[in-house]
Amino acid sequence: MISNILMMSGVKSLKDVDLTGKRVLIRVDFNVPMDGHFNISDDSRIRAALPTINYCIDHKVCSISLVSHLGQPKKGYEERYSLRHVQKRLERLLDKKVEFIDNIETLKSENSHCSVERIFLLENIRFYEGEKKNDPQFCKQLAELCDVYINDAFGTSHRKDASTYGIADYVPIKVAGFLMMKEIEAFTKALEKPIRPIALVVGGSKISSKITLLSSVMPKIDKLIIGGAMSNTFLKALGYDMQGSLVEDDFVEIAKEVLKEASSKGVKVYLPVDVVSTDSIEAPVDVRVTPVQDILEGFHAVDIGPATLKLFSEAIELSNTIIWNGPMGIYEISQFSKGTFKLASIIAESYAFSIVGGGDTADAVEKAGEKEKFSFISTGGGASLELLEGKILPGFEKLDRK
Ligand code: ADP
Ligand code: 3PG
Ligand code: MG
Repeated sequence: MISNILMMSGVKSLKDVDLTGKRVLIRVDFNVPMDGHFNISDDSRIRAALPTINYCIDHKVCSISLVSHLGQPKKGYEERYSLRHVQKRLERLLDKKVEFIDNIETLKSENSHCSVERIFLLENIRFYEGEKKNDPQFCKQLAELCDVYINDAFGTSHRKDASTYGIADYVPIKVAGFLMMKEIEAFTKALEKPIRPIALVVGGSKISSKITLLSSVMPKIDKLIIGGAMSNTFLKALGYDMQGSLVEDDFVEIAKEVLKEASSKGVKVYLPVDVVSTDSIEAPVDVRVTPVQDILEGFHAVDIGPATLKLFSEAIELSNTIIWNGPMGIYEISQFSKGTFKLASIIAESYAFSIVGGGDTADAVEKAGEKEKFSFISTGGGASLELLEGKILPGFEKLDRK
């Protein structure tokens, strides 16, 4: 695992190349949590990209094109996923004008004029079909926007998308940004000689993209604690009727395999024994704690219950390294946030080395007021799980080596 991490830390960073007069494209991860009115609830991911952006400004680049995704749009433009909602906050944090550009053609014609320092923010790259498909034509189109490609989107570096991966085949100079380097250094320190027992805590709602990683991290961990919507799929695999809860039925079989793999590797799995359930997520009238076998007809499991918290906290207190990704419930709604916030406090108060990763999980830890007590907060959720798995992240794979 460490050899792969060292390989990633051997890539060139923006410090190793001459940026003067160049058009740089920075792939950032501005996939920030927002409320229903598009207010950003945690801007850590934007702040984390500032050192790279400021370094480019200080080194007199011709132009900076910022490229990011927001959420997981499936059918082109959708207002709720527009990066327009990020522009103002970015301007405030940078203390510079940022020009919002809603399509690639306009960006191409605008970003070649170097007379003034210009910073562009392109609309959500996932509104283009070619992005998730890593379509070669689309990669070329993106590559034409720049002379230097800087990948600083650590949170998305586990994706083989056009702007995180394929583009690098068509740009002469491709390097890592400061955030990518910082994250790799932090994980190298944490994973070099981890003190066992190691507990991995997973939750959240991105079940399909994370559940498949769990079998391969098994040799690296001692305990697997599962909450949030992720645990619903596991509980269903164990035969419980999860009623209206968020379950990914296509992954129930995989959940069974993960449980088998855990038992064959001697990893102890902790699943909820009780949940907070509700008749409605948007307009709850009846919210109650029930054992997992007694969820009422049509109810949704939206948080872990008190008995589960006790069970999880005992497992955590006896661990020396804790890696956490994925909230324990719908923490954005205060009635369903207790499990996540209390778990944040339990991990924060433990004596273990604690890493938390993921846009929403980091937001929850901040909201719980426990941020300072964690050993390391990563901007990557799925990316940090893939690192733990020991893989070379695609976002590093094609970058220039020192
Ligand atoms: P991260 O951003 O930290 O990687 P994810 O994106 O995988 O985490 O998941 C975060 C989302 O999971 C939150 O929006 C939260 O509301 C949701 N979630 C957690 N538990 C549940 C649940 N039981 N039912 C529905 N959604 C859930
Ligand atoms: C995240 O929030 O985990 C990253 O921004 C990656 O997003 P994705 O899971 O939609 O690729
Ligand atoms: Mg998320």
